[in-house]
Amino acid sequence: MDSVLILDFGSQYTQLIARKIRGLGVYSEIVPYNLSLSKIKRKQPSAVVLSGGPQSVYQKDAPLISAEIFEMGIPLLGICYGLQLMVYLMNGKVAPSSKKEYGFVRLNILDRKGLLAGIKNGGQVWMSHGDSVEELPPGFVISGRTSNCPAASIEWRERKLYGVQFHPEVIHTEQGKKILANFLFSQAKLRHNWHMESFVERKTEEIRQQVGGKRVICGLSGGVDSLVTALIVHRAVRDNLYCILVDNGLLRKSQYQDLMGKFQKHFVFNLLGVDYSQMFVEKLRKVISPERKRKIIGELFIRIFEKEAERLGGVEFLAQGTIYPDVIESNPVKGPSSKIKSHHNVGGLPSNLKFKLVEPLRELFKDEVRLLAKQLGVGREFIFQHPFPGPGLAVRIVGEVTEERVDLLREADEILLQEIKRAGLYDRLWQAFVVLLPVRSVGVMGDQRTYQSVVVIRLVRSVDGMTADWYPAKSELLACISNRIVNEISGVNRVVYDITTKPPGTIEWE
Ligand code: XMP
Repeated sequence: MDSVLILDFGSQYTQLIARKIRGLGVYSEIVPYNLSLSKIKRKQPSAVVLSGGPQSVYQKDAPLISAEIFEMGIPLLGICYGLQLMVYLMNGKVAPSSKKEYGFVRLNILDRKGLLAGIKNGGQVWMSHGDSVEELPPGFVISGRTSNCPAASIEWRERKLYGVQFHPEVIHTEQGKKILANFLFSQAKLRHNWHMESFVERKTEEIRQQVGGKRVICGLSGGVDSLVTALIVHRAVRDNLYCILVDNGLLRKSQYQDLMGKFQKHFVFNLLGVDYSQMFVEKLRKVISPERKRKIIGELFIRIFEKEAERLGGVEFLAQGTIYPDVIESNPVKGPSSKIKSHHNVGGLPSNLKFKLVEPLRELFKDEVRLLAKQLGVGREFIFQHPFPGPGLAVRIVGEVTEERVDLLREADEILLQEIKRAGLYDRLWQAFVVLLPVRSVGVMGDQRTYQSVVVIRLVRSVDGMTADWYPAKSELLACISNRIVNEISGVNRVVYDITTKPPGTIEWE
């Protein structure tokens, strides 16, 4: 099978390169930039990509590699820092640009014989660099330029070495996918021979090796990630898998009962349903800090899993539906990106965890998990269900979590979902939910003054949860949701609509 090895120099987009290449039907794997040349050779990659990164090649502590990599005859694409590194190591010159480029620029095409074949002249590309190539190493030609970057795309086709200063892997580069496809197929001559079936096979085998004859428990949340995790682990260890659904009192209306029913109906894995709803609300009493809430909930889940594991006996592993955005935003290991929030199945884990983790989806994005789910025969109702955060309604209650506030939010949330579904909008949105604020406002109802809670409606669209746009809902729909919430839920007299994108906001409020 053809494969692409991506050497990671710390760009926030590295995983996107892997995902875009997998999307084009070629297996790709990310390794740290300093993997030795002998280990790289042992992996026998069909092509190599050097990722972007935050540093400058001429700095004292810049991450460098052996220039021998360019002599190996393996087709190679350098992106941003990766391009600069190739130029620098092959005796060209890289220097700080007089005009830095961040954001959209237009690409002028000078040579269409290779990487830029079939690419529109003047199309938009996404730049993010402070350094530029000043002198090309011998052998290279410039195939594309922008107004401030004379070497935006370079190639030495005979040696199959390519570099782009812009980021073809981000959605903002109009024909980025086509440029990557040109590199993979017309230049490097790779074949499309990777698909989700091979992913499942590979992961099943890896889990079998990792787990041996031991038992695994898997916390189900009702979302597609943990379900797909359970199904892959089940393929690997069969009845040694025990799935657990915890009622933490922070689920949506009737969610626990509905899920138990659906899991029992559709799936054959061992399933335990446990009710710890009282415990969660008690532990969250008087806790205001979003990070504290996340940590408390993450820890409680683990303690519950430990207790249940002890009851079952022989459990050494915990399977979790962690996906890539959970990892990058929690930043549990020292890395280039900063911590945004502790996603409960990553950053929320206690340090003295007794289990070894099984996380087959760690490299994937939500849309890839959905594809996988389809391939595993999971029904639409699970696949296209909106994501629901592990810490549940607790991170949608700004301020203290009390039973009364959870009940109030749950009812408002149910009204919102009913109306979104009635309007035929559910499948077009990434998420739709209500947030309860710790703010009261003055209102008037039936000639009486009221002083009650404010809730927020959040409707967002997104491709992968990493960025999101607020949804411009029709005013009739918003009016209907607002009326129903204010009229049907006692304690709420004001509804506001969140019009914040991610970034700068996040999707959830906490
Ligand atoms: P944010 O709020 O970080 O959320 O923009 C991005 C996506 O992740 C979901 N989310 C979580 N999912 N555990 C999860 O499994 C968590 O702790 C968690 N926090 C946020 C969120 O709903 C959105 O879809």
